[in-house]
Amino acid sequence: MAASFRSGVFPSTSRRSALVSRLQLQRLLGWEPDGFRAEWPTLEAIEGWRYRQDLVVLYLLARELPGHGLTLEIGSYKGLGTVALAFGVRDGGHDTVHTVDPHTGDRQALEAAGEALPSSEAELERNLSEAGVADSVVAHTARSDDLFERWDGSALRFLFVDGWHSYDAVKSDLRNWVPLLGPGGAVLVDDYDNYPEVEQATDDQRDLLPPHRARAGRMRLFHTRLLPSTVRRYLRIPWG
Ligand SMILES: C[S@@+](CC[C@H](N)C(=O)[O-])C[C@H]1O[C@@H](n2cnc3c(N)ncnc32)[C@H](O)[C@@H]1O
Repeated sequence: MAASFRSGVFPSTSRRSALVSRLQLQRLLGWEPDGFRAEWPTLEAIEGWRYRQDLVVLYLLARELPGHGLTLEIGSYKGLGTVALAFGVRDGGHDTVHTVDPHTGDRQALEAAGEALPSSEAELERNLSEAGVADSVVAHTARSDDLFERWDGSALRFLFVDGWHSYDAVKSDLRNWVPLLGPGGAVLVDDYDNYPEVEQATDDQRDLLPPHRARAGRMRLFHTRLLPSTVRRYLRIPWG
């Protein structure tokens, strides 16, 4: 399953065709950065729940956001988002990507299966290695709260929240990690439009989050300064 989609948010066939043609148009128009296009074959081979345009956003933010510090992804799964972030950080000459996951499974996948799922840890390691980014990613096998307990206080430049999608988990992720963002840092919350709990937990932390807000499909971005022009331009794509 390459770059597949979450069931339950999959658009109907006609809407999907319209969406696909708009996205193809967007690619033809050259809105995707060359650095991303060059890496697409690697990303396409990794299993995950991401649209191509989500990966462009991860890549661009990791590459373009100003400031110093680490990139942290909460919820690694098999490394699809991690690899996009690692390519961005590499192309922008930024600091390492950290990613954290207990590898116990995604909420929607667990609810669909109704039983424990196999760990995604070995596939994450293999995908990072095959993508050639193992040296620029630190993968933690832990719950995000547990990693926070032993974190050395290093500042973050970019926080991507995509771990357990409950009110309490998202609240805890934001309350723990957002204060570590350095000047110019940004937070991207995945599944804001898919889970009311994610939306509510995020909105309830509004005072803590960077002041400016932008939509990126079903994700929400919170940022401090004017976004780099490449990012602003890309966020204007027809998301569907
Ligand atoms: C939607 S998947 C992540 C997808 C990944 N970010 C990507 O872009 O491909 C959610 C992941 O969160 C992980 N997870 C569950 N509870 C967690 C927790 N407390 N801390 C961090 N990750 C958690 C699950 O094991 C699952 O792999």
